[in-house]
Amino acid sequence: MGPMPAGPSRRRFLQVLAASPLMASGGLTAAFFESQAGGQIRTAGAATADQILKSAADAVDVFDFEASAERTLPPAHWGYLATGVDGDVTLRANRDGFSRFLIRARRLVDVAKVDQSVSLFGATWPTPVVLAPIGSQRAFHPEGEMAVARAAKARDLLFVLSTVGTSSIEDVTAAAGGPGRVWFQLYPTNEWNAGLAMTKRAERAGCPVLILTVDLQGGSNRATQARYQKRDTRDCAPCHTSGGFVENVRRKPMFDGLDLSNVRNYNLPGMNWDFVKRVKDSISMKLVLKGIVTREDAALALEHGVDGLVVSNHGGRAEESGRASIESLPEVVEAIAGRIPVLVDGGIRRGADIFKALALGANAVMIGRPYIWGLASFGQPGVEAVVDILRRELATAMRQAGTTTVGQITSASVMERGR
Ligand code: FNR
Repeated sequence: MGPMPAGPSRRRFLQVLAASPLMASGGLTAAFFESQAGGQIRTAGAATADQILKSAADAVDVFDFEASAERTLPPAHWGYLATGVDGDVTLRANRDGFSRFLIRARRLVDVAKVDQSVSLFGATWPTPVVLAPIGSQRAFHPEGEMAVARAAKARDLLFVLSTVGTSSIEDVTAAAGGPGRVWFQLYPTNEWNAGLAMTKRAERAGCPVLILTVDLQGGSNRATQARYQKRDTRDCAPCHTSGGFVENVRRKPMFDGLDLSNVRNYNLPGMNWDFVKRVKDSISMKLVLKGIVTREDAALALEHGVDGLVVSNHGGRAEESGRASIESLPEVVEAIAGRIPVLVDGGIRRGADIFKALALGANAVMIGRPYIWGLASFGQPGVEAVVDILRRELATAMRQAGTTTVGQITSASVMERGR
């Protein structure tokens, strides 16, 4: 086969391909072909970048915001958002993994009223959708995390602020309407005192939960991002220093006032379970580990007094295992056996995906890229619209499965293909 055509002809080629018997055989997905086309990372069945949204309310599903964000963002920033690692195999698996699990529809149940609220650590949320920690949000919209925090307030959502966010925990907490709606995510750095100072600062801001991200310890090879960066011809110097890691994090508000003389990086190769214990013993917040994908590590987390887990492969940005986070969820849920909350993220784009995650035992789900697509497209209203769409779709999925509360969504609500 020759090189993939570009632009409209490429799209026509993909449409023909999608309609072909080859695709119907189910062996290869449209997402696979789309992602191979011209190095683009886009989703099958989705709007294309030339379909313009005039307002957030125009969107049919969250993929409309993906197309719109791709149009809006400069190539390097789009690449940062879209990238996985290596050949983006895990990134694609996160989406494809949902097709392994099938919803068992039930009929003739009174589903006139549906309640999708969930509780986490004693707080109740109107939806299981949580906004995942994403760094550098001003790269996507001038109001960055502040717009997201205002959306969290407007829709009563839980928002996790990243260590490398472009707003402070104090400002974000205030914009979200006070403590409780914001958790803090920690990349501890190689310098214990820097991480400790940030956690103390989060505690002073009233943050009830600390998320320690543990899935980037091996580093990550973001090839797609590197390719998009090369395509970007803008002068990046006004916003990015060339001074490496320390000079870049120095500009992040959570690093304000810290002694950075020994800080080298935040992928901490020496991090181990003693480190987790040390973090746990030095905070009064609940401690949640983000990035656990096996029953062995889930059991160790329980042994070390961890209060909650996020089953995650960093949205396909950590290891190239090829394993979807939804496929990792069941074994973690089994090992935890209801003792602490388990959240999951990675590839969640539809209400049906959320339903499957809840049926497989998650207490809540996180979304990453989708709300950033909304942010990049329209700021706060875009974030709100993304969550509104997912909530609406989840309510529909719940009705179709005859489940009117999240508690009624159980392992009997799904089956595995072929079993
Ligand atoms: C992330 N993620 C992430 N995770 C984290 O713990 N701290 C962080 O600073 C970031 N930053 C970040 C930036 C970008 C651009 C992306 C796409 C992701 C991972 C994120 O919290 C979450 O695990 C994934 O985004 C979930 O997958 P989906 O929903 O994006 O498929």
